[in-house]
Amino acid sequence: MTLDTTTYAVPVARGSAALRHAVADWRKAGQRVGFVPTMGALHEGHLALVDLARERAERVIVSIFVNPAQFAPHEDFDAYPRDEAADAELLAAHGCDLIYAPSRLEIYPPDFATEVRVGGPSAGLETDFRPHFFAGVATIVSKLLIQVAPDVAVFGEKDYQQLLVIRQLVRDLDLPVEIVAGPVIREADGLALSSRNAYLSAEERKAAPKLHEVIATIARNVSQRATIAPEIEQGCDVLRAAGFDPIDYIAVRDAETLTEIANPERPARVLAAAWLGKTRLIDNVPLDPA
Ligand code: PAF
Repeated sequence: MTLDTTTYAVPVARGSAALRHAVADWRKAGQRVGFVPTMGALHEGHLALVDLARERAERVIVSIFVNPAQFAPHEDFDAYPRDEAADAELLAAHGCDLIYAPSRLEIYPPDFATEVRVGGPSAGLETDFRPHFFAGVATIVSKLLIQVAPDVAVFGEKDYQQLLVIRQLVRDLDLPVEIVAGPVIREADGLALSSRNAYLSAEERKAAPKLHEVIATIARNVSQRATIAPEIEQGCDVLRAAGFDPIDYIAVRDAETLTEIANPERPARVLAAAWLGKTRLIDNVPLDPA
């Protein structure tokens, strides 16, 4: 399959052959390649990652693929927002050189039989509630990193546990790529940008920033030596009063390993996942010991 250079302002590769061809040409010209994997429905958070990739490489590739392997059957794979034309327009404005938008068959042919499982930071938190998730992510990210073969790949801290799982994967498999983290991008009221925010009703949208407010308060208080457990309990009460139900977790974990800690003597992270109506929101903030 050849490169589609006519549909959008940015060329699109729908198969790995066209993708590899473009990358080979850039490499021959001595250009570094940056990569941002996405599931589309792009917002300013994704675009900030594209800008980071652009700062580190002459060429930037963004993949758009809603990965079925990271959704359980009862989750929102079918409802997940998709608007390739709008995504392409945003990417053109941010200097993306190539969109890689493979078909499901291109990624998962009928005889596909491999799953990549990462240990370490994938334990607990998201895995307790979405046990399928990190194997789905690790499998698609492995395949994309092998197909694109970038010098640098950028992932958002918004999905903080995912970022650590990918760092572990890249280290363990000696994948020759530098992983760069992009900070969480927030609305003015603190809500972390997410493609799933589009599911929120007007009333839920008003309540949604409470999640950030609560974890930021926990981070501040724990950094000033408050005990973790009562802080989390109080945070859960505040979230419940604001309409969050259920609260999957609020946790204070070591920022590098995500292991449990009694007191933050090293940099830590406050992480949370909670539901507002039918929308599951996740967020996290740094906690630096005083
Ligand atoms: O963070 C995401 O959007 C996805 O999990 C990723 C990394 C693109 C893999 O499908």
